[in-house]
Amino acid sequence: MSKRIGIGLLGLGTVGTGVARILANPESRHPLVNDLDLIHVAVRDLQRERNLDIDKSILTINPEDVVDNPSVDIVVEVLGGIEPAKTLILRSIAAGKSVVTANKALIARHGQEIQSAASAAGVYVLIEAAVGGGIPIIEPIKQSLGANRIQRITGIINGTTNYILSRMAREGVAFSDVLQEAQNLGFAEADPSADVDGIDAADKISILSGLAFGGVIDREAITTKGISDLNTRDVEYANQLGYCVKLLAVSEKIQNKGSNTNDLSLGIRVQPTLVPFDHPLAGVNGVNNAILIEGDPIGEVMFYGPGAGAGPTASAVMADILNIAGISQVGDKSGSLDPLLAANTWRNCKLVDRNQIVQRNYIRLTADDTPGVIGAIGTYFGNSGVSIQSIVQFDSTQDNAEIVVITHKVREGQMQEALLAIKSLKEIKGLAAYLGCL
Ligand code: HSE
Repeated sequence: MSKRIGIGLLGLGTVGTGVARILANPESRHPLVNDLDLIHVAVRDLQRERNLDIDKSILTINPEDVVDNPSVDIVVEVLGGIEPAKTLILRSIAAGKSVVTANKALIARHGQEIQSAASAAGVYVLIEAAVGGGIPIIEPIKQSLGANRIQRITGIINGTTNYILSRMAREGVAFSDVLQEAQNLGFAEADPSADVDGIDAADKISILSGLAFGGVIDREAITTKGISDLNTRDVEYANQLGYCVKLLAVSEKIQNKGSNTNDLSLGIRVQPTLVPFDHPLAGVNGVNNAILIEGDPIGEVMFYGPGAGAGPTASAVMADILNIAGISQVGDKSGSLDPLLAANTWRNCKLVDRNQIVQRNYIRLTADDTPGVIGAIGTYFGNSGVSIQSIVQFDSTQDNAEIVVITHKVREGQMQEALLAIKSLKEIKGLAAYLGCL
């Protein structure tokens, strides 16, 4: 007979409620769901009305009660934020309990400390719900793609900004208006800065990079630019040139330092980026996410689906619970952790300086509409070794011309050198936009 597995839930907000609903209704799901009992749940407010059929006697306002409950085998943390989540997770590990968490901000900053504690205690900390909402991406990278040499990860991994960008492109609405609507509809957080400033996407690409490249990532070294100063004009110009604009998170292998293949240089950045209409990521709209992985020998594989929301995120949390429950049911015969399920690091990853990153770029310059300006821009780019793919003058008015340049792949340092010289030209009024381009 299979044994019962006790689940303790820290948080009964959107995701926690989604998990509780699945646990309360196992019919037609994997039979292992029948072996799970929701034993104890930490909430902020015991009196709050909930659209959930739950035995009130299992609710507590003390999260430590859940962690310390001897009948709880797996602790599910869906509180978000750094504290008290970090302390509660470490306390669960110390008590010999495996943990499932959706907390990307915590794992991106303190993942190494948490995973080391978990390894030492012989328990799992699984994080499928931390990236991509309902999209299975963490375990595929850890397990299904394990034979590959990963070269690059390119992702749309923030649903809020993708919703805003999709609306800006479709309806030509300004960023601030769409954001207000997204907040009214409940998509965007009351404080949307982590989403619109690219912080949430940088947390997520940090986590994906650590798993795909096998090393600890310096989260603070990730070059991050959000969409709050993105002008509708650039979305329109990009459209006319055959591109859409997406907030992309990119992580790629730059080179191995010296002969030691355990040392890996990575270029990681988050920025608004032009994506050609025929690229698979161009069709990812609304709150959906997608992650494109390039590796050897697989080539390209793309994961697509709902990047947020109660149901999708609860689906990912349940996947982790079932993984741990499955191992618990067959018994840990070796006494050690499954190396594909536990998080491992085997390489030293170092992020290259931003100036070493090589990519295509889109820039928009405002300039006097006089003879020789485009020629001078071309000369300065050429002097710094920047090759131009296209240069177009848009929307010239009596006073100003808008000149849009798309470059070929170039090192950021060369780009900066050229832009410094170009901005010193008396005919140039300013650099109005600087975006990436796939
Ligand atoms: N705020 C996130 C997003 C959802 O908009 O994608 C949770 O990761």
